[in-house]
Amino acid sequence: MTLIPETLDDINYWDLDMFVTGSPHAAWCIQREQSPVWWHDKPGGEPFWSITRFDDCRTVLGDPRTFSSASGIMLLDDNLLANPGASVDDFQPMILTDPPRHQPLRRTISHNFTPRAIAKLEQEIRSYAEDCLAEAADRREVDFVADIAHRIPAAIALSLMGVPRDRWDRLAELEHQAVTRNEPEFWDTEDQNTSLAAAQMEMYGYFAELVQQRVAEPGEDLLSQVVQGEVLGEPLPWMQAVAEAGLLLAGGLDTTRAAGSEGGMLPLLSHPDQLEALSADLSLLPSAVEEFVRWASPVTHEARTLLEDAEIGGTQMRAGDRLAIWSPSANRDEAHFPDPYRFDITRTPNRHLGYAYGEHYCLGVHLARLTLKVEFEELLKRFKSFELVGEPQKVRSNFVGGLKHLPMRLTPR
Ligand code: HEM
Repeated sequence: MTLIPETLDDINYWDLDMFVTGSPHAAWCIQREQSPVWWHDKPGGEPFWSITRFDDCRTVLGDPRTFSSASGIMLLDDNLLANPGASVDDFQPMILTDPPRHQPLRRTISHNFTPRAIAKLEQEIRSYAEDCLAEAADRREVDFVADIAHRIPAAIALSLMGVPRDRWDRLAELEHQAVTRNEPEFWDTEDQNTSLAAAQMEMYGYFAELVQQRVAEPGEDLLSQVVQGEVLGEPLPWMQAVAEAGLLLAGGLDTTRAAGSEGGMLPLLSHPDQLEALSADLSLLPSAVEEFVRWASPVTHEARTLLEDAEIGGTQMRAGDRLAIWSPSANRDEAHFPDPYRFDITRTPNRHLGYAYGEHYCLGVHLARLTLKVEFEELLKRFKSFELVGEPQKVRSNFVGGLKHLPMRLTPR
């Protein structure tokens, strides 16, 4: 039985059972009300300031010179503290880089992610979605997460990097093992650290080979652009492209999967009026997709390290302290969202922090929006009914959340 916290004392954010079967939202509600900036020093991992209100979270994200990403954006549990080799990404992709290096690094590929550049990918995304949904239509019963919500974003991210199609499934599996590292179902071995180390070695080993090919023969893909990039007057080492490849894979897959499944399909099934409204009027898709991301808030926490003393919400913090902002909490802050626990596909405005804010604002935001729009457009055009045929299951994680299984029956029109 999992504890649903009732008081501040009951809250332990290392309790992953709470994230799987309990309600972390109960914890965030208590914290927002009673102690929005709270020193969390519970058994299970490193101590950190836990930040739950929208305004405070935005302040942290908007000030990268005080709140640094360079020592890791994921909180470290006891297991990772005891096994640092398994926790640390050896190379620093842009998401783990602070100013002044961060923006020039981001600019090596950011022109590929503008709304105009992404709009050109629509036909390609639609064709992956069509292939995937044609298979689902043949089978009728599917695991919406593995068969649809995960496969479509994986195809896009890997194709942008120029990874050949026969490697997509394996790399998507490795990404699960690396990002969702506390979920035993994704381990290749019995032990978390062996599985994680093997996954990282295989994934980065593969990307290293691919990048070496791009060094010898550059193409049009994202990795070739990093290989040819320069930051602050220095050419980038080829390892930088390997680091960015890992980030693009990790950044784009589990997040878009969580938004489509936990944020989209599941709440649509439990709110049939909203599903009906969306099916009847596909022009609601852009606002629906924004609500999917607010609802799921796939990146559950973003950790930072203080480079100097600072005050947030009247609480004094010291240089060297670690902190985490909880985006599902910020995105249900009553002070910013009227009726925040209502799933509303027409919610406007909907300025959530699901894609973060400021310096590290998600580079893939337009790609994620278009992927989710096309995925649901094709789903609603092709199928006339959607039924749950088993229990939805949550991923065991307090970092990138979402569902791992959503068994469904889809009935074609
Ligand atoms: C619904 C889907 C997505 C969500 C919710 C999401 C969320 C986020 C968040 C919260 C951050 C900031 C993390 C931090 O500040 O520490 C971020 C950064 C990033 N995301 Fe996304 N993301 C999504 C999809 C994608 C996609 C499809 C891609 C590309 C294939 C992508 C690539 C990136 C990259 C490269 C960064 C780092 C940007 C930087 O450091 O400047 N994301 N994303």
